[in-house]
Amino acid sequence: LPRSDLDPAAIDVERAAAGLGDRVHRTPTFSSRTLGRIAGVPVSLKAELFQRTGSFKPRGAFTRLDALTAAERRQGVVTVSAGNHAAALAFTAAEAEIDCLVLMTRGASELKAAAAREYGATLDREAEDPAALFARLDELRGDRVLVHPFDDPLVIAGQGTVGVELLEDRPTVDLVVVPVGGGGLVAGIAAAAAATRPSTRIVAVEPEGSTALGAALAAGQPVPVAPHSVADGLNAPFAGGLPLAVCRAFGVEHATVSEKEIEAGFRFLYERAKLAAEPAGAAGVAALLAGKVDVSDVSEVGVVVSGGNVEPEIASGILRFDEG
Ligand SMILES: Cc1ncc(COP(=O)(O)O)c(C=O)c1O
Repeated sequence: LPRSDLDPAAIDVERAAAGLGDRVHRTPTFSSRTLGRIAGVPVSLKAELFQRTGSFKPRGAFTRLDALTAAERRQGVVTVSAGNHAAALAFTAAEAEIDCLVLMTRGASELKAAAAREYGATLDREAEDPAALFARLDELRGDRVLVHPFDDPLVIAGQGTVGVELLEDRPTVDLVVVPVGGGGLVAGIAAAAAATRPSTRIVAVEPEGSTALGAALAAGQPVPVAPHSVADGLNAPFAGGLPLAVCRAFGVEHATVSEKEIEAGFRFLYERAKLAAEPAGAAGVAALLAGKVDVSDVSEVGVVVSGGNVEPEIASGILRFDEG
């Protein structure tokens, strides 16, 4: 990355929000009395699972594609993804009439792969695991522009518009809980809070089996991890250098949740809040339910429910299996 790209202050979420206009939904924010009672503090849920393509990802993809030159548009775009970014890039590239190639692993979600294909992307699913994806990318990309799923200032700024809306719609939210994979969403939201309500605390939540950001925060640099969580959207093989710099600059806090806690969060959203989230989208709620977030002295918690793309068989399996 060029030096200027590593400056957290350069992430302009308000500009991204203006650029997006009405191409993405302004998703609703619901209060949850039950979750508030359990957590001991008022809680609002930012329902980003209702976003176009079923996750927040088109925000960053549109913002990045808008910056392409005419020559780059002709070259086409490429990405690697666990799934939601793939579907979002396929969708946004189709809207912008740009050719799109997407690399996913063999084991990636069929539902998300089908969505990317239906939006018109060419799909490659030869890579065995997330690490192999990047080698495969070097082989296949040609002169296509890489739209990185999280390590890009424009993608981060686009994802940050989730935070702009949440803080606008909930004036008393002073803590935001965010599910994390490579760190683009949480970095964007941290930048949004720094620009609009700097006293806001931000907590990044990762599965215990997929702690790319936690490992990077501990080491002071991105480190490879071997993620394996039911929250497939959070299975990034490393955190982005820029998301890490932003999280450090803005003092983002960190919490982890077990697979069982994620499943409990998933069930809570379905049964109580009537939100059909995907496991990744439930990680923030899971952290709150499990008491993993310090809410003393907090006025209101905003939790991002970041996506809803999950195979019915996986969803019904989690709903059926409740150890209590
Ligand atoms: C539903 C969902 N939530 C959260 C994330 C995490 O986003 P990031 O990789 O920007 O941290 C993803 C990433 O794919 C996702 O699909």
